[in-house]
Amino acid sequence: MTLATSNRVCALLQIEFPLIQAGMVWVSGHKLAVAAANSGILGVIGAGSMRLELLEAHIQKALAQTSRPLAVNVPLLYRHTEEQIQLALRLGIRIFITSAGSPRTYTTFLKKEGCTVLHVVSSPLLAKKCEDAGVDAVIAEGFEAGGHNGREELTSLVLIPQVREAVQIPVLAAGGFSTGASMAAAFALGAEGVQMGTRFVATQESSAHPNFKAAVLEASRYGTKLCMKKLVPVRLLCNPFYEKVHAIEERGGSAEELTALLGKGRAKEGMLEGNWEEGELEIGQVAALVRDLPFTADLVLRIRQEFRAACQAIKEID
Ligand SMILES: Cc1cc2nc3c(=O)[nH]c(=O)nc-3n(C[C@H](O)[C@H](O)[C@H](O)COP(=O)(O)O)c2cc1C
Repeated sequence: MTLATSNRVCALLQIEFPLIQAGMVWVSGHKLAVAAANSGILGVIGAGSMRLELLEAHIQKALAQTSRPLAVNVPLLYRHTEEQIQLALRLGIRIFITSAGSPRTYTTFLKKEGCTVLHVVSSPLLAKKCEDAGVDAVIAEGFEAGGHNGREELTSLVLIPQVREAVQIPVLAAGGFSTGASMAAAFALGAEGVQMGTRFVATQESSAHPNFKAAVLEASRYGTKLCMKKLVPVRLLCNPFYEKVHAIEERGGSAEELTALLGKGRAKEGMLEGNWEEGELEIGQVAALVRDLPFTADLVLRIRQEFRAACQAIKEID
């Protein structure tokens, strides 16, 4: 393994290429995380949708299949957060990506345990709070991103330079990136690494249901919308379930109505079980550019080649 140690993200995470396969509920289990790690990028298990026993099984299987660094993503939204962190620590995970909560809650504790901590931010203000809390790097996630989203609605193009200005620690860009060329654009804006979510949903190893993967490949027909701002804002594919959410929001329906419609298990029903009509399908705007279902190793190789070509093309302009 050759580390590009001149890049701070590669040095921090001990990876070959400064790309993170995002932690994603119902999508990034051990298969995807191992495939990503073995391709030289950071593989991440998404703990958000996992009960403790399931998380334990995924971490153990992943650790048995790779000696490369692996991370766990813990959204600070759900019950069991503390138990998930304790479990991952006990099993040997030393890289944590926290999101959707305060960076102050667990960073000091995780740093004392010798861990590397990255936190997802949607504003320069929150990025500064992360730095003050001792976080090692921030992931600046723009409005384009799939899944839960900040309330600021800053697009990546505007967010990344502001976060770069606000902190000294490394900045990774997320939201709207799916190719090596877009990754080069993020670097031009001041990022030192990129996290991709939507792109990895459409891979052979992701645990998204085949119906969900097929819908991602056709996403340019459906589009995506950020919705449920009265609860936690989330970007969804515009399927029949989204239309129901939209109808409530259009007539000014309450948070309680949205909660009642959401019920329990909508995301699982959509993303893991493939129910196009009734399921919630979290996905980013960049789905419109995702047109194939590659193996992760081939995808990472392609992104690396595109990145190199884009950087070369920029250099040649001078
Ligand atoms: C299906 C899906 C599930 C996601 N689940 C999580 C999650 O559990 N925790 C989290 O921090 N982010 C989650 N995200 C956001 C990703 O981690 C990532 O930051 C985002 O997808 C980047 O934007 P992109 O989709 O444009 O690549 C999710 C995204 C998607 C598409």
